[in-house]
Amino acid sequence: MKYTYEFYKEAADFLLERFGGAPEVGIVLGSGLGHFAGEPEDAVTVPYGEIPNFLVSTAVGHAGEMVFGTVAGRRVVCMSGRFHYYEGYDFEELSIPVRVLKLLGIRALILTNAAGAVNTAYKPGDIMVIADHIKLMGASPMRGPNVDAFGPRFFDMGSAYTPALRALALELAKGSSLTVHEGVYWFSPGPQYETPAEIRAIRALGGDAVGMSTVTEALTAAHCGLPLLALSVMTNMAAGVLPKPLTSEEVIETANAIEGPFTAYVKDIIAHI
Ligand code: HPA
Repeated sequence: MKYTYEFYKEAADFLLERFGGAPEVGIVLGSGLGHFAGEPEDAVTVPYGEIPNFLVSTAVGHAGEMVFGTVAGRRVVCMSGRFHYYEGYDFEELSIPVRVLKLLGIRALILTNAAGAVNTAYKPGDIMVIADHIKLMGASPMRGPNVDAFGPRFFDMGSAYTPALRALALELAKGSSLTVHEGVYWFSPGPQYETPAEIRAIRALGGDAVGMSTVTEALTAAHCGLPLLALSVMTNMAAGVLPKPLTSEEVIETANAIEGPFTAYVKDIIAHI
């Protein structure tokens, strides 16, 4: 079997040696949010291509490196560039990043992403703390022989998005200029944006925001018992809400426009974790 405990451990041991220490918090940076990778002090940067058994990022706007350093007094590792199903990876391969982060010794994982707002009470530039997700297509990253060292064969998803971290993020939102909601993230395989009819269906089924990432990482975190916070930046209204086509330029533009307050908000969360 390819995906053994030792497979992930080789990558983690390599990184621990390069970093010269263990991170306390891991953060995965979404589309247009990569500038957070400039935040760690005394940074050590390792390109993904140098890490044994790791994946290589192909998505536009994703740098493809691990950045280790200090943010808000905490040792943090940033994944600047993530891996998506639409790039051609199997769901099973998408277990690699979070399992490697787990073996680095992190105590909490923060996932960030760009998403389309399905809930019409949300606006571009708003944030959604993910309370839960819906993924009705495709396989699980935990499919195949179970790696017992990470977690059990069958595992609960009822509190995958750690309630205490969600409460912390909502509390800290009060001191931020951002509008922060809590809602349900719908996984869309991409790379096409959704059709207006799909968005109406997603809304009827309980989705508040839609995006092409995060759930494989959330499933992997839940399996290995890693406390998780996931934050979506509403970069656009979802398909059909406004009478205009969706473009990746709009997604990146909105993400860039809230870079300042979003970075401050995430730093505040890290300081309080
Ligand atoms: N749909 C899917 N993924 C996205 C969107 C969207 O509208 N915006 C940013 N990522």
